[in-house]
Amino acid sequence: MCGIVGYVGQRPAQGVVVEGLRRLEYRGYDSAGIALVADGELVTRKRAGKLANLEKAIADDPLPESTTAVGHTRWATHGAPNDVNAHPHLGHAGRVALVHNGIIENFHALRAALESDGHQLLSETDTETVAHLLELQVASGVDLTTAMQRVCQRLDGAFTLVAVDAHDPDRVVAARRNSPLVVGLGEGENFLGSDVAAFIEHTREALELGQDQVVTISREGVEVTGFDGTPAAAKRFHVDWDLSAAEKDGHDWFMRKEIFEQPRAVADSLLGRHSRTGQLQLDEMRLSDQELRDIDKIIIIACGTSFYAGMVAKYAIEHWCRVPVEVELASEFRYRDPILDYSTLVVAISQSGETADTLQAIRHARSQRSKVLAICNTNGSTIPRESDAVIYTHAGPEIGVASTKGFLTQLVACYLLALYLAQVKGTRFGDEIAEVMEQLEGMPAHIERVLADAESVYALARSHVDTRSVLFLGRHAGYPVALEGALKLKELAYLHAEGFAAGELKHGPIALVEDGMPVLCVVPPEGRDQLHDKMVSGIQEVRARGARTICLAEEGDTSIEPYADDLVRLPRVPVLLQPLVAVVPLQLFACELASAMGHDVDQPRNLAKSVTVE
Ligand code: M6R
Repeated sequence: MCGIVGYVGQRPAQGVVVEGLRRLEYRGYDSAGIALVADGELVTRKRAGKLANLEKAIADDPLPESTTAVGHTRWATHGAPNDVNAHPHLGHAGRVALVHNGIIENFHALRAALESDGHQLLSETDTETVAHLLELQVASGVDLTTAMQRVCQRLDGAFTLVAVDAHDPDRVVAARRNSPLVVGLGEGENFLGSDVAAFIEHTREALELGQDQVVTISREGVEVTGFDGTPAAAKRFHVDWDLSAAEKDGHDWFMRKEIFEQPRAVADSLLGRHSRTGQLQLDEMRLSDQELRDIDKIIIIACGTSFYAGMVAKYAIEHWCRVPVEVELASEFRYRDPILDYSTLVVAISQSGETADTLQAIRHARSQRSKVLAICNTNGSTIPRESDAVIYTHAGPEIGVASTKGFLTQLVACYLLALYLAQVKGTRFGDEIAEVMEQLEGMPAHIERVLADAESVYALARSHVDTRSVLFLGRHAGYPVALEGALKLKELAYLHAEGFAAGELKHGPIALVEDGMPVLCVVPPEGRDQLHDKMVSGIQEVRARGARTICLAEEGDTSIEPYADDLVRLPRVPVLLQPLVAVVPLQLFACELASAMGHDVDQPRNLAKSVTVE
């Protein structure tokens, strides 16, 4: 998500900051801006679109010389990607400029309080609210560091904030909670960046900040405190990556980096979903409770990985809301003359928001008077713009062609939609919904645990470089996971890979099984509707025909051990939420195997990230 650069030193700050933003372009963004301090004033330029638009604005109206500045590339979350919503944002009298990455969960309440005190906010962003709060503090006489400490104590959510004060040109102050920020240490100059790529051409000495810390940089040095103002320590490190590795946070592929970002992405997608009364809230829902109560059928349309997220959504929505759900490939949908009317809700799932098949399908649905709700990762893209409502996932830009964090955050959005419908339709009690929300909020920690075991999955993957054909089996919510695991392997390793519902094996696919063939099996949690035991029978059937079984089974499931040639352990989670952990080893497996086979993992042959033709 967003790129952030801060600088104070001896050189012209404009060049350092704009170059830093260019180095962060790989993160993806839809607008860019800069603020610098000159003669006790702040001067800003910001533009929607690419950095070239900002550079043109600066060329048309040159900035004064300055050695203190902040800059930002924005990936829109709150508010459309336009000039007004672009960062930096200013306080009410234009004394403080602020750039921000993340989501301030309680900004509605903070904004309402400011507005009732007469503040006029110009943008739709959560960031501008914080700029006003900071400026109120410095106007009351405290320095920007103290202002930042005080304001951060009032903020909920995940954020990196970087600010400058026009009356204090020799310092830049930043804060972080659950969002990235590193400090670059120079001689007579210091830097801030979302990652080291922002300053790697100037210094390779850096500080890694801890959670809930405020950092003040000046020409003379760096000071770190907690939000409560007590001095704090930060970890010093030397950057020995080249620029391309720095962009990937030290990983070899963007895909691998994105797999490891999933705990954060899932947590971000869950942020801000509770109202002050504890009710589930979806900011961009735009469909009234009555409209939702009138819905008697849901059709989910999507392509590829997003389609598999839709398959999981069907299990969740039907179980929690008792509304019938169909899941349909977007490319097939409008050609079969589907039965649609005002009581059908069409849910379009798309990471990019630009997939032509999905776009044409929603246009058809709306022409038949159905309401369309988009689940999308790209703010301002075409699909949410043409839909009646939207739930944004907050995965941040996904650069690897193979979707990973896009998929996990789509699953989160699907669960949120299901629970929201259950709340509105009254098909589940409030405490049941709260219990699932709590389980969802525990998922980032479970995903971390799966990732901690990546090395053993990699070793397994590398032992399959000579494999030509792989099967994936699953049942219930594990069936779409099997399909997704197979898709990842096709896309990246160019292998024949197929996913099946385990119960369907005996109706034909079992004929494919040959001696030594790897079969990856997603084993459901124990103890529900015989699902687990039926899956174990399926595993026994393929093993009896010579398959080598790699079982993904929850911790403590000993009954699977006699039938697993290899075992990957998953945390114990409810069956409906298991896809959030079960797909992660399959992503790691495909990424590592493709890498070991010498393929370009980020740009697989014949594929495009966004498929804008039908
Ligand atoms: O951007 P979308 O979610 O609409 O894209 C849909 C598919 O093209 C996409 O999921 C594709 O299957 C990915 N390459 C899967 O990794």
